[in-house]
Amino acid sequence: MKLDIDFVRAQFGQLEDDPEFVFASNAGGSYVCNQVNDVLEHYNRHTRVQPYSRYASSAAAGEAMDRALSGWADALNIGADELSVGPSTSMNTYVMAQAIGDLWMPGDEIIVTNQDHEANSGAWRRKAHEKGVTIRQWEVEPDSGLLNIETLLPLLRDNTRWVFFTHCSNIVGTVNPVAEIVKTIKSGSKARVFIDAVAYAPHHISDMKALGVDAYAFSLYKVFGPHQGLMYVNRDIRGDLTSQAHYFNSGIPTKDFNPAGPQHAQVAGCAGVLDYFDALHRHHFGDSDKSANVRLDNIHRLILQHENELAAPILDFLHNHADVRLLGKSHARDNDRAPTIAFKPLRQSSEELTHKLQDAGIGTEHGNFYAHRLISDLGIDPDDGVVRLSLVHYGSDNEVERILQALDMSLA
Ligand SMILES: Cc1ncc(COP(=O)(O)O)c(C=O)c1O
Repeated sequence: MKLDIDFVRAQFGQLEDDPEFVFASNAGGSYVCNQVNDVLEHYNRHTRVQPYSRYASSAAAGEAMDRALSGWADALNIGADELSVGPSTSMNTYVMAQAIGDLWMPGDEIIVTNQDHEANSGAWRRKAHEKGVTIRQWEVEPDSGLLNIETLLPLLRDNTRWVFFTHCSNIVGTVNPVAEIVKTIKSGSKARVFIDAVAYAPHHISDMKALGVDAYAFSLYKVFGPHQGLMYVNRDIRGDLTSQAHYFNSGIPTKDFNPAGPQHAQVAGCAGVLDYFDALHRHHFGDSDKSANVRLDNIHRLILQHENELAAPILDFLHNHADVRLLGKSHARDNDRAPTIAFKPLRQSSEELTHKLQDAGIGTEHGNFYAHRLISDLGIDPDDGVVRLSLVHYGSDNEVERILQALDMSLA
């Protein structure tokens, strides 16, 4: 069975705006599915009041928020007390740096990478400096930008408190084998693991228990939804964390790590993403009583196949082009390559090439995409950065054809 791309595209109203435009900046923020807009519109028209009181509109507002929270807990295979929703992943990691780092002591160690977006790096490093904690860096291979598990092992010590790394780089697009890495970390140390999944979640929603992570964060505005950051925090590690809530709310799981307070309508809107995935599953597999994360896995198989088909010709073209340095893996056949494709043109600046692509109707961007350390360590000027073409499953063969034509013209 293949993904029904016409059905998929019909769920995203913005795709109809300009049929000539190819949106290839999805890693910066995806289009929003119609189901999310429906939830937001209903919330804002009918239940835009302080939620969780007894009068009808308020009770309905609370129910709409609860539907989203319990739906996402199911999707991630976690308890509702293990889900925290904040304004963004950067804000969630900033808050978690206080919650996690408060109890760090001099002599403790943490491991961060130079592959990550700064959201999963800077906040931990700053807190470690403040607390006299040793920072060890798990480094990418300097040519490809890929992480190798062999170079992580020597960094692990008895006093390693946390390891922070990404499920998928927003530059090299390669999916790190999280379950395998976590297993290795846990077998050799007592370290906790925090994963940034912002660049992975648009391609697959994972089962937290299967990954074995302690905490995991991603942003729904890149997963067809509202501008919210979702975060899993395993209830077993709460003793290691300090609450960041008002003192009288301390110990309330949904409040402990979100001092900003919930953005009511946006939280309710998160349910729309799951409504979309449900519609996708129903369309392809019919009615089902399978659990949410099993249904998400079914959809994932279709999405993966389609995304691989989108990425393959672009990767082929760039890999074989003499004037291009392609970052990350040059093919998608191992099923571990998101269609987030970054490259450095060798005979013109990334800015120049990006402008040509934009003039040809391709919505792409250049820069360091806040993976400043990675881009610098790959020997690339972080201001000009790389050109990034990032696709998701609503991309079509026709769009890929347009991207290839534009690349061919612009690199000539
Ligand atoms: C891999 C990765 N991590 C973290 C972030 C930060 O997410 P947010 O914008 O929700 O703070 C981004 C945003 O681009 C990202 O791509």
